[in-house]
Amino acid sequence: MNNRRSFMKKSAALGMGAFGINSLFNELHAADFQNAEKFWDPASETNDDYWATIQEAYTASKSDVIILNNGGVSPSPLVVQEALEKYNRQAAQGPSYYMWRIMDKGREPLRKRLATLGGCDPEEIAINRNATEALNTVIFGLPLQKGDEVIGMKFDYPNMMNAWRQRQLRDGIVYKQLSFDFPIENDDQIVKAYADAITPQTKIIHVTHVVNWVGQIMPVQKISQMAHKKGVEVIVDGAHSFGLLDFKISDLECDYFGTSLHKFLSAPVGSGMMWIKKDKIAKIWPLVCNHEPTSADIRKFETLGTRSFCIEQAIGEAINFQEGIGTKRKQERIHYLKKYWAEKAQQIPGVKIHTSLKPEYSCAIAGVSVDGLKPGELDSKFFTQFKIHTTPISYEGVNCVRVTPHVYTKISDLDKLVDALEKISKKA
Ligand SMILES: Cc1ncc(COP(=O)(O)O)c(C=O)c1O
Repeated sequence: MNNRRSFMKKSAALGMGAFGINSLFNELHAADFQNAEKFWDPASETNDDYWATIQEAYTASKSDVIILNNGGVSPSPLVVQEALEKYNRQAAQGPSYYMWRIMDKGREPLRKRLATLGGCDPEEIAINRNATEALNTVIFGLPLQKGDEVIGMKFDYPNMMNAWRQRQLRDGIVYKQLSFDFPIENDDQIVKAYADAITPQTKIIHVTHVVNWVGQIMPVQKISQMAHKKGVEVIVDGAHSFGLLDFKISDLECDYFGTSLHKFLSAPVGSGMMWIKKDKIAKIWPLVCNHEPTSADIRKFETLGTRSFCIEQAIGEAINFQEGIGTKRKQERIHYLKKYWAEKAQQIPGVKIHTSLKPEYSCAIAGVSVDGLKPGELDSKFFTQFKIHTTPISYEGVNCVRVTPHVYTKISDLDKLVDALEKISKKA
């Protein structure tokens, strides 16, 4: 709590902004957050008054539709929306000057702030547009030879599985995919499955930190430790973990990490980040050209052509907002929200939860199904009858609707979800 207070003071004093304009966060929220902090009671499980301030900060909390697919893409708080508008208006006065000469100066400070948030060296961070771009850069950039093996699983994200399949077709690598029967509340079982699949040809393990299909948190650090003992490198898809789980990238002990920032960090849509361990940067070929493709400078991955520097710079306000709450507090709140609805839901006859409710194994995401209804039918009933937006999952034996609250989700909206499940299951 004291750290957060001192952050507020420091950021107010420095006028911390993404590239030197006064921070909108300080103008709009620093005082609100300080007031909210007075309501914080460490003994309270709900801290409703504190969270009401956070909910207020998101326009999505006032939406006519209850948004429970924040795992897909998350809304930004108003302060981030306004920062983006401010930058867009500024750029519109002459993008070649304002974007390329002024905002461009904001990239290095932003790199440092992302590195602080990720607990790593800024020289290991490249800023890009999403997790797909970050992870495809690594997948296509690795100097793999014909016959080299990569181990992933069927529950990785399609864009990454397709990238590996393309390398298989083009370069003759061998792409093996494990399958798991989630939920699994046993790290050793997961680590053993990867370990058992390793052969002398294995070069890479690709792991999804939080599995998008059902929300399982994978034991990445244990997988990395096991893999490194066998000389295998580890790529981590952190699309659903960064900005949600309280970890440092170095804790994962992996070699490569990619994430979107428009999921749990609530940065503008079209923002992402790649992390590569310092001594691996030189050997990864950039996906998009650079004049020094074998350089050890992480910036070689940022020759992305003309793109929105406004989006990039508004990430700074999303970081301000995140730091205002604190990632640990955010993780605990979102886990609480998930548990709140899922524990009630699993009491309803005919309703099944497809995700572990223990904090080590899941956080925001949980899958739910109602006997007799296909995922698409349940998703459609949620929306047409109750104005609740979720996403249906029918994939590799997983049949459920994925529900993902975010930090702005109101308890009353989760009560509506449980009520909807009661009504739907009675008629199913
Ligand atoms: C696990 C996982 N990885 C990667 C992605 C891709 O993210 P983006 O579309 O932002 O590139 C997603 C998107 O939902 C995801 O769930």
